[in-house]
Amino acid sequence: MVQRGYHRPRPPSPHAIKLNLILIFAFFFLVFIFYTRQWHLLDDQRKQQPFSDEHSQTDRMPDAELWDAPPSYGLRSCVKPTSRYKAATGWDHYMTVRSNGGLNQMRTGIADMVAVARIMNATLVIPQLDKRSFWHDSSTFSDIFDELHFIETLQEDVKIVKELPQELANVPRARKHFTSWASTSYYEDMTQLWKEYQVIHVAKSDSRLANNDLPLDIQRLRCRALYHALRFSPPIESFGKVLSMHDADTAEAGGAA
Ligand SMILES: *[C@@H]1O[C@H](CO)[C@@H](O)[C@H](O)[C@H]1NC(C)=O
Repeated sequence: MVQRGYHRPRPPSPHAIKLNLILIFAFFFLVFIFYTRQWHLLDDQRKQQPFSDEHSQTDRMPDAELWDAPPSYGLRSCVKPTSRYKAATGWDHYMTVRSNGGLNQMRTGIADMVAVARIMNATLVIPQLDKRSFWHDSSTFSDIFDELHFIETLQEDVKIVKELPQELANVPRARKHFTSWASTSYYEDMTQLWKEYQVIHVAKSDSRLANNDLPLDIQRLRCRALYHALRFSPPIESFGKVLSMHDADTAEAGGAA
């Protein structure tokens, strides 16, 4: 049997303490060097990424570049329908809409209504713009937006007409305040109304469709409506161009001075 030796711990010599301290110090020094290097690498990476120092970029940006289209940073628009998407056929159910709110709210509301008309298999009548709540303006849809472009851009998605057909002008309409942030299934249920009515009048267009959990093709339709179909009318577009050119000229003149 081997007897285990019993060693009394010897008090460490001052020399050993010094050596230990040096080792500990060297260890921390290495850790420090390692982290500093990592930090610099990260910092370099961040500088290469586009969103990081936008401000300093703007500061250095020459005026000419400022008026160019912004870089896309690799982001792509998601307006194309999926392969499952079917072109719209015409429906003899009609949906009339009164948009409410300011211009921006009306734009998103109109895009929602395009999607709702698609879900409900309805033909959409060009929406009426708000003239009462705080948009104190008598402009019609075609004063603000390029109506023909709107109809044509969305022709594969929803049939859109300028006016309700004459023979339907006086038929009783279902007048609906659709629930805010409703889902697709809500509108699918609402198609029950077609059993009794040929025309549904939507009294408000704002926030009538949920932002999440909608089928991909419905979200993309919204994007198409908002970013492709809803273009300002030619007079507003050209006025906008004049304004931005004026600003660009002023900026250039200012830059040269
Ligand atoms: C809309 O029409 C299509 C094609 O006829 C049909 O498959 C779909 O169920 C209809 N949608 C609703 C909500 O009724």
